[in-house]
Amino acid sequence: MQILVTGGAGFIGSHTCVALIEQGYEIVIYDNLSNSDISSVRAIEQITGKNVPFYQGDVLDAEALGKVFQEHDIGAVIHFAGLKAVGESTQKPLLYYHNNVGGTISLCRVMQQYQCRRIVFSSSATVYGIRNPIPYTEDMPLSAESPYGWTKLMIEHILDDISAADPSWSVVNLRYFNPIGAHESGLLGENPRGIPNNLFPYISRVAVRQLPYLQVFGGDYETPDGTGVRDYIHVCDLAEGHVAALDYAKAHTGTIAVNLGTGRGTSVLELTSAFEKASKKEIPYRIVDRRPGDIAMFYADTAKAKEVLHWQAKRDIEKMCEDGWRYIERMARTE
Ligand code: WQD
Repeated sequence: MQILVTGGAGFIGSHTCVALIEQGYEIVIYDNLSNSDISSVRAIEQITGKNVPFYQGDVLDAEALGKVFQEHDIGAVIHFAGLKAVGESTQKPLLYYHNNVGGTISLCRVMQQYQCRRIVFSSSATVYGIRNPIPYTEDMPLSAESPYGWTKLMIEHILDDISAADPSWSVVNLRYFNPIGAHESGLLGENPRGIPNNLFPYISRVAVRQLPYLQVFGGDYETPDGTGVRDYIHVCDLAEGHVAALDYAKAHTGTIAVNLGTGRGTSVLELTSAFEKASKKEIPYRIVDRRPGDIAMFYADTAKAKEVLHWQAKRDIEKMCEDGWRYIERMARTE
C-alpha cells in the first residue's frame, strides 16, 4: 500500500513525507509546484535515502490524478494541496473556492473511482472563528472569517458527508494551529515566495537582512505583553501528528476532527526574543496598528489528540527557533 501526499512538496507536506518514510510508509507525491519547489522532493530523498515518485499536477486535473492511482496501489491520501493565504483569499474568493473546494471534490471522486477510502485532511484552527473561548476544543461551534477559512470548513463538511453516506470511508480532519520551524537537517523548511504573511518567516527574513524590521501588528491586545498570542507548533511535531492520524485512519472508519497544537500560547514579542536568542541576530521591530481580522489570543486543547491519536507535541519554542534559523541561514548562504 502506498500513501498519496497531495501538496507533498510544500512546507508541511514535505516534512510529513519525511515522517511517513521514517515510519516505514511508501509515499507518492503529487504537487503542482505553484507554491513549492522540486528541490523539496530532492531534500526528502536526501534526508531519508529513499527514492520518492513525484508527479507534477493539479488536483483539479482528474485525468492526471487518475494516472497516479493507475500506476500505484494508493491505500490512503494525505491532502495538503490548496491555496492558503488568508488575505489573498479575500481578494480572490473564486480562485480559493475553485482550487481548494473544487480540487478536493475532484480528488475524492478519483479516490472513489479507485476504491481508496482513507483521507487525512489539512484543516486549520481558523475554522474555530473568532468567538469561541480558549483553549479550543473540537466540539466547539465552527465558523470562518475569510474565504480561505470557509474553504477549510466546507471541505470538512464535504468529507463528513462522504463518510456519512459511505461508512467504509475513514476521514481525519486535522486542525493545525501555527506551524513553524524546520527539519533539523536544515535541508527542509518554510520559504514562501515574496513577502511572507506569517510571523515566523517574516522574522526569518529580517534576521538575514532581506527585510529591515518586523511590524508588530498591535501592542494593545488583552495579552500579557499586549501582542498577539498563538499556539506555535514545530512542523516536525505536526508531521508526526499526520503519521499518527494515518495509523488511526487505517484502523478505523468514520470521521473525526483533531487539534494539532501544543496547548501553549506564545506572544509575538516572546517569539521574536526566542528567535534572537537562537540566531544571535537582533530583530528590530516597530509596533504598528492591529491587522484586520486578527484576534488577541488562541491556542489548542490537546486532550483529544493525546487520547485518540496517542500523539502530543514534544518540541519547544527554543527548538522551533533553532531549527528554523539553521534552515534560513543555510538558504541565505546558498542563494
Ligand atoms: C501570528 C501572530 C499576528 C505577521 C494564519 C492563518 C492560519 C494559518 C497560520 C494557514 C499574529 C502577528 C504576523 C507580522 C505580526 N495559516 N504578526 N507581524 O494569523 O495566527 O494564522 O497563519 O493555515 O489559518 O490564519 O498567523 O503568523 O500571520 O500571525 O505581528 O508580520 O503574529 O498579528 O498575532 P495567524 P500569523
